[in-house]
Amino acid sequence: MSPERLAVQAKGASSLEELRACVAECTACALAATRTQTVFGDGGGARRILFVGEGPGEQEDRQGVPFVGRAGALLDDIITKGMGLRREEVYIANVVKCRPPENRDPLPEEKALCTAWLDRQIELLDPTVIIPLGRHAAGHILGVDAPLGRLRGKVHDHRGRKVVPTYHPAYLLRSPHEKRKTWEDIQLAMEVAGLPRRGA
Ligand code: URA
Ligand code: SF4
Ligand code: URA
Repeated sequence: MSPERLAVQAKGASSLEELRACVAECTACALAATRTQTVFGDGGGARRILFVGEGPGEQEDRQGVPFVGRAGALLDDIITKGMGLRREEVYIANVVKCRPPENRDPLPEEKALCTAWLDRQIELLDPTVIIPLGRHAAGHILGVDAPLGRLRGKVHDHRGRKVVPTYHPAYLLRSPHEKRKTWEDIQLAMEVAGLPRRGA
């Protein structure tokens, strides 16, 4: 399967539910062989804010839902306690839809294929702001290789979309002192999305 052919297939899906069904059958890269199930995305009808992580971990692979493990609990806190939203009021997805074994980083060829699904997911969702979580997701979405510290703290205009990268919650669990900057990024993203700012 070439990235181009996968992109054509993804374009053929005319709704998120159709796209989800295509992804569930996908065997385009080697990650299909070791996954329990695909992890498409979570978020009801939410369209303003899209969080994008790197790829499913063990819990996500088991449950079929993104960000449900330890990092997910912190993301939930950011959404509910920080932003004052319910989890269903944002959308959550990943760059790759299948768990890399032993939680290794997804390989360039895996991302190059799977991005067909993410790209179409973004088109169909048409979010007001995209928040890539961590260096890998930010680098993938913006098409650059730079430390997160240089990408965060500002609004990027990428292919006509607003992108506000911030730290990955798994990184924040190891480096809690960066939570303050994350909160600044989240407030910036909320402003871009037209949501009211909240006190920290
Ligand atoms: N980390 C990610 O990047 N994505 C998940 O879904 C869970 C943990
Ligand atoms: Fe398909 Fe993406 Fe899963 Fe690879 S990671 S099998 S491209 S859905
Ligand atoms: N480096 C990363 O890869 N991710 C982060 O969130 C922060 C630093």
